[in-house]
Amino acid sequence: MQKKWWHGKVAYQIYPKSFKDTNGDGFGDLPGITEKIPYLKDLGIDLLWISPIYKSPFADQGYDIADYQDIDPIFGSMEDFKKLKAAADEAGIGILMDLVVNHCSDEHEWFKKACEDPNGKYGKYFIIREGKDGKEPNNLRACFGGSVWDKLPGHDNLYYCHFFHKKQPDLNWFNPELREEIYKMMNWWLVDMGIAGFRVDAIMCIGKDPSFPMYEPDNVGDGMCSCGVMNAQNVDVAVNFLREMNSRTFTPNDKYSVGEVFGITKENVKDFIGDNGVFGSIFDFSAREALTKHYCFYGFEKLSVKQYREVIFGAQETANTTGFLAPVIENHDEPRGVTTWLPLMWQNAQGAKALGTVNLTLKGVPFVFQGQELGMTNTKFDNIDELDDCQSKDQYKNCKDHGLSEAVTMQVLNDQARDHGRVPMLWDDSEYAGFSTTTPWMKLHQDRAVLNVAAEEKDPNSVLNYYKTLIALRKDPKYIKTFTYGNFVALEDPNDHTIAYLRQGHENTIMVIANFGDKAVTFPINDESELLLSSGTVKMDNTLDKVTVAEGSSAIVLL
Ligand code: GLC
Ligand code: CA
Repeated sequence: MQKKWWHGKVAYQIYPKSFKDTNGDGFGDLPGITEKIPYLKDLGIDLLWISPIYKSPFADQGYDIADYQDIDPIFGSMEDFKKLKAAADEAGIGILMDLVVNHCSDEHEWFKKACEDPNGKYGKYFIIREGKDGKEPNNLRACFGGSVWDKLPGHDNLYYCHFFHKKQPDLNWFNPELREEIYKMMNWWLVDMGIAGFRVDAIMCIGKDPSFPMYEPDNVGDGMCSCGVMNAQNVDVAVNFLREMNSRTFTPNDKYSVGEVFGITKENVKDFIGDNGVFGSIFDFSAREALTKHYCFYGFEKLSVKQYREVIFGAQETANTTGFLAPVIENHDEPRGVTTWLPLMWQNAQGAKALGTVNLTLKGVPFVFQGQELGMTNTKFDNIDELDDCQSKDQYKNCKDHGLSEAVTMQVLNDQARDHGRVPMLWDDSEYAGFSTTTPWMKLHQDRAVLNVAAEEKDPNSVLNYYKTLIALRKDPKYIKTFTYGNFVALEDPNDHTIAYLRQGHENTIMVIANFGDKAVTFPINDESELLLSSGTVKMDNTLDKVTVAEGSSAIVLL
């Protein structure tokens, strides 16, 4: 495997609307991120993925882009971006922009022109089809509910395709002119603006079958089929486009990319990562995929620790010799990892530390999502008005349409809503959590009195201080090669609740143990083994050659 500059890096994701507000309008902004660069440097991160900050009407919180080369005024200006970039450079932090090119906004110039002249240049930038017998061209369901087809404004029997919100028209990747335009825009950010790379959004959606056949309806009961089925059948189509993208943008400029890719298998993984892959890395969504395998509109069953361990180990083994995954426990589309993946008894600071141990010692480029380093759990939402996300609103309606009570419906959202990753970052215990000087656009987390940066900075036992030490350990020159390139080897699970593995490097072997059960576990060590870091209660017994990791604890041991 060729070595790349990003291999030993640790990344952090910012949801900009909720990170730090500096002008008192209740929304986070770019000067807010700039102000917090020292915080991020102190945390030890190298790469910063910022969710979309482009000009947008915010139908899907910025994932609907009206201008790829401008900043939305809510976040500031291009000048503010340059200042942020300069501050990040100074701190040795590379910026990753969010590349959203499966679709744009219906307020993008391209789409406006397409509506004016569907047969002209810009009409070909989109996927426009005639209706069939006065109905949509086929029966695919959009990710946010309803048909993927809506009438092209101003035209009676023409429909445009959108796999997400109706304000997010899909771009036509089969058109080479559109592709060139996208590569040009990407290279402007990569080269002229000097960013480190892109996180590539919803990209498997470009794998389409342009004939748009009818699909077998799925079990939702509306006669439609999830648009993801078309993507799953056309992975090769997407990969071909992505090979071209990579050869025109990332590879020639030696830039990093991390793809939002689902459906990785032992067979196709090499198309995505490694020497012949189209991306620098891809997120490890194996746990998320397992959770939603038997998805139903009103919920999913939690994974046991054993199931969680099996899927993430499976992903590690799939990628082990091929390339780099990007381990994650949560992001802006997910409820919080501590609440989702851990048993009730460890949905606290102790569990957060042990889960962090796993996130940051697996093979790959780990991503930490804002607030994760504080040990944030799900926010308690009392009614639908406290939620903002379009997918949450659709889910609420779905639950209600299926006769679920208000209480059950709110429980569903409290377990699953994307909004959990979108509430304000907690900087201190003041009225607006140090996030803003006014009521923030989203509710503040119920535990903000204790769960906040200022309080945790003061507490040597806090999750935040643990994350700092953990990240520093991962990057310690003595161990960085092993954490980066060391082989992943699964260890037995003695109590069905323990995630344990080895990272075997040329220079040393490191053992990681995270116990989410209700009893202590022991693992063999040797006379010279050394405890590099622990959370909770861990006892090394070199004379008896064993390490004891108490329930809710974690250990990183140099064997
Ligand atoms: C990705 C984004 C999500 C967005 C969707 C459509 O999944 O992470 O937030 O809604 O793509 O762009
Ligand atoms: Ca603001």
